[in-house]
Amino acid sequence: MLIRTLSLCDLPGVMEVQRSAYPDGLIEPAASFARKLEIWPEGARGAFDGDVLAGYLFCHPWPTGTVAPFGSKRIVIPTAKADLFIHDLAVRPERRGVGIASLLVREAVAMAAAHRLSRCALVAVLDARPFWERLSFRPVCEIGYGAGERGWYMVMDLPASPPLVRNGSTDPWTAAPYADDVRSQNLPYSD
Ligand SMILES: CC(C)(COP(=O)(O)OP(=O)(O)OC[C@H]1O[C@@H](n2cnc3c(N)ncnc32)[C@H](O)[C@@H]1OP(=O)(O)O)[C@@H](O)C(=O)NCCC(=O)NCCS
Repeated sequence: MLIRTLSLCDLPGVMEVQRSAYPDGLIEPAASFARKLEIWPEGARGAFDGDVLAGYLFCHPWPTGTVAPFGSKRIVIPTAKADLFIHDLAVRPERRGVGIASLLVREAVAMAAAHRLSRCALVAVLDARPFWERLSFRPVCEIGYGAGERGWYMVMDLPASPPLVRNGSTDPWTAAPYADDVRSQNLPYSD
């Protein structure tokens, strides 16, 4: 099993895995994956068996306490306080149960720590909430997500680390005040 960053050439495989893993209401267009790749290339990871994409994870910084819009082709990386938002994680049904998703999540958490982000966030859909709880994510509230689907907004706090200082200024992702209540912030929308 090889884990590597994805490129635009991998998007057909991503769409295939997505189709195998989600109902219609949770299918995001290829252009929304392309946008995630464009704004945060390191957050697009694939697990490969030979040439076959067995599973993928997409993540990127997103304003703390808010939910990244489903299926958007226009998201931008925040300049202020951010979580690492795990936007999507899926494994082909026939490749499940051997730890592929856990490996991909471990990479995302390491990425968050490397960027001094203080927490990871996501929306757990289908029956995935217990999977995330096993990985130390806690449910915050239930929300509408995708086209007529529901999910649990979940977060995991990372151990505190010193702020990253670049050229004398503090990393913008550690500088702003912490907001912890998703209900007082943006709720998901599509565009
Ligand atoms: C959820 C999903 C990504 C898990 O992928 P996976 O590669 O099978 O996960 P892992 O093999 O790393 O599983 C790790 C552990 O979690 C358990 N687990 C996996 N899915 C679970 C679930 N839905 N509920 C509870 N436990 C689950 C596994 O049994 C395993 O336990 P073990 O360590 O005791 O063996 C996969 O089932 C999937 O693609 N589902 C459809 C899409 C989806 O729901 N994605 C998540 C969106 S938030």
